[in-house]
Amino acid sequence: MRAASVRRRGLISAMLNRRSIRYFSSAPVGEEVARLIIEAGQRAPCVYQSYSVIRLKDPQVRRKVVEIIGDDPPLRAPLLLLVCLDVRRTSRMFSLMTERHVLRTERHPVETVEMLVEMAMFMENMVIAAEALALGSVVLDYPLRAPEEFSRALDLPEKVIPLFLMCVGQPAESPPLRPRMPLRFVYHVDRYRDPTEEELQGYLTEADEAHNSEGYLRKYGNLDVKYREYMSQKVSQSKAQEEEASEVQRFFRASGLIL
Ligand SMILES: Cc1cc2nc3c(=O)[nH]c(=O)nc-3n(C[C@H](O)[C@H](O)[C@H](O)COP(=O)(O)O)c2cc1C
Repeated sequence: MRAASVRRRGLISAMLNRRSIRYFSSAPVGEEVARLIIEAGQRAPCVYQSYSVIRLKDPQVRRKVVEIIGDDPPLRAPLLLLVCLDVRRTSRMFSLMTERHVLRTERHPVETVEMLVEMAMFMENMVIAAEALALGSVVLDYPLRAPEEFSRALDLPEKVIPLFLMCVGQPAESPPLRPRMPLRFVYHVDRYRDPTEEELQGYLTEADEAHNSEGYLRKYGNLDVKYREYMSQKVSQSKAQEEEASEVQRFFRASGLIL
């Protein structure tokens, strides 16, 4: 099999050309398609299947999300899914198997990582399934940053932890492919190799230029700032970041999400 010809075909081509889509047409996504996407998500590798997804359909329910985070175009997607880490159901299942199980303890880093990884794989399968149906999608991390507000607004029971929104619909934009690190940063054979500082700087410059020439922040954030400056602010330590981190950590701990 020749890799060059495979790149142009079917699933691999869909994966190599996928971009996040944040503007959608108003074409509805029916319940059958929604169920198909979620079922494809469930076929991802799994350990405990510790996830639940809530379709936000009712305009009143959607309004609650906008009240928490403000308006953002992807929130108008015809299929809006709240992806939750379901420590609640997982813990109940464990209780049926054994009285003294790990999720009742304060220390279960392995299970925590496994639950998060399988949830990520569930989401990625849904992303690919959407592509296969000629739909676009984007993952948003608003719930992760304000889990308590989402939990209250959507009346979630204890230990069902809202982490991501997935917006799906027919694309109403065709953005360019976004930059990725060179394969040599990510793929190592036999021995790990650190990229040099010049290589890292080179990639940061490339990513900055690509986002600026797309007009990424202007288009999606209405921001008049260079991408690299924006990212640098985003990852800077600050009082606001520390406060958010403590609140999120407290909520996670109380929900059984402990690393
Ligand atoms: C964990 C995670 C959280 C994300 N959160 C957001 C978000 O809050 N807002 C957003 O516009 N995009 C979000 N994205 C999408 C990324 O911005 C996007 O995948 C990245 O810029 C690369 O662009 P591409 O998907 O078009 O290749 C998120 C992606 C992941 C994996």
